[in-house]
Amino acid sequence: MKLNEFLTSKNVDSGLAELVELLAEQSQTIKRGFLGHTEDVAGTINIYGEEQLVLDKWADEVIVSSLQKSKLAHWITSEEQPEVIEIENAKHDFGITLDPLDGSSLIPVNLTVGTIIGIYPGEVLNPGKNMISAMYFLYGPLTTLTISIAGGVHDFVLDRNNEYILQKENLTIPDGKIYASGALRKDWLPPHITYVSQLEEEGYKLRYSGSFVADVHQILHKGGIFSYPAYKGKESGKLRLLVEANPLGKIVTDAGGAISNGKENILDVMPTAISNRTPIYIGGKKEIEQIENIVKKAA
Ligand code: AHG
Ligand code: MN
Ligand code: MN
Repeated sequence: MKLNEFLTSKNVDSGLAELVELLAEQSQTIKRGFLGHTEDVAGTINIYGEEQLVLDKWADEVIVSSLQKSKLAHWITSEEQPEVIEIENAKHDFGITLDPLDGSSLIPVNLTVGTIIGIYPGEVLNPGKNMISAMYFLYGPLTTLTISIAGGVHDFVLDRNNEYILQKENLTIPDGKIYASGALRKDWLPPHITYVSQLEEEGYKLRYSGSFVADVHQILHKGGIFSYPAYKGKESGKLRLLVEANPLGKIVTDAGGAISNGKENILDVMPTAISNRTPIYIGGKKEIEQIENIVKKAA
């Protein structure tokens, strides 16, 4: 079943369906655009103080301009934009969170990267639990779309006719023993050190690529836990609350998993700025309870 047929079959609001289909078209432009630009740095810095690749800014431009032209959304906050973009005379009030290319530093070494998108019914400076949909595109051996919409999480794969075809409906995260952890081991804080040694004791295998969206996709399908913890000198961790944690947190939660900053469900957190970062634990409920218990005991 094609994406548009699926959205119709689920009686998805027509404005939301049109928006999802527009974003699906942009993902194909992005995938086709990698050739020839893999290494170029743009010589600019984003609001997180990170060097931007030409591809980061180009992918951002592809999606932002498509939303400005179509007027299918009212607000956009992007990892590559210094502030929220408001679209004049928007047809709908949707608020979009966007990481146009997650893991972009991996493109020169041909590893899987993706685009992460969250959709709010209105303004974006709200807790992740208010999102009405969230999705990510993965550009790897296959080009895939994973989306939480119409009460479930569903996987689509791009076929030879450039159509996203339903692969799996109502995905649920299985039990599994994979773990991923960012930050330098020498900078981990005691609760995280305890957690990782418990996981390894229990036979969890390390799988970490450097692309949040690809690593979480693996855990969504095989079970386990992804973490990018608070670490020495960076108590708020590295990953971004609005454009990374919330959308993937919604998807994994809607697939029966959970997301936490070690103390509480990240989807309940009220953002104070679009640049907020957060420590992230995302994966199976069991693994999330485990880290929250360790943090509670250490308090
Ligand atoms: P982005 O490419 O959007 O800046 O995201 C990169 C992020 C995330 O995808 C990944 O998990 C993390 O950075 C990797 O960080 P380290 O290089 O510190 O491991
Ligand atoms: Mn990212
Ligand atoms: Mn990015």
